[in-house]
Amino acid sequence: MKIIIINGPNLNLLGKREPEIYGSKTFEDYYRELQLKFKNVEISYFQSNIEGEIIDKLHEVGFSFDGIVLNAAAYTHTSVAIGDAIKGIEKPVIEVHISNIHAREEFRQHSYVSPNASGVIFGFGLKGYDLAIQSFL
Ligand code: DQA
Repeated sequence: MKIIIINGPNLNLLGKREPEIYGSKTFEDYYRELQLKFKNVEISYFQSNIEGEIIDKLHEVGFSFDGIVLNAAAYTHTSVAIGDAIKGIEKPVIEVHISNIHAREEFRQHSYVSPNASGVIFGFGLKGYDLAIQSFL
């Protein structure tokens, strides 16, 4: 089984960025834990701060991988284009957010990803990625 985690803007700063919201672990460390936990799953990881690169990656994997775990970060709330890209591909996308976006600012409560996602997980910290992978198994 081939699964990809796609992280959007500023998530490369995990571990340093607002640790009271996002925790103090780097995503690279967490990714290694996931690879050890899900030994029988081929998990890839892609992060970009650039909207078009996230769209290109969705197009690249969206017809061949078994599942996509997407945290589009701030683009979740702004990007019609990422929403359209998810609509345009075949494979299921699970939307993940580390924080509880519904307990935060008003602008975080709208998502262009959710209407096109197979499922949405938020508010569980990094564990949300683990839960998303489990949902594909
Ligand atoms: C986030 C929530 C978004 O609102 C925010 O812009 C992020 C991270 C999360 O994982 O909680 O960058 O997607």
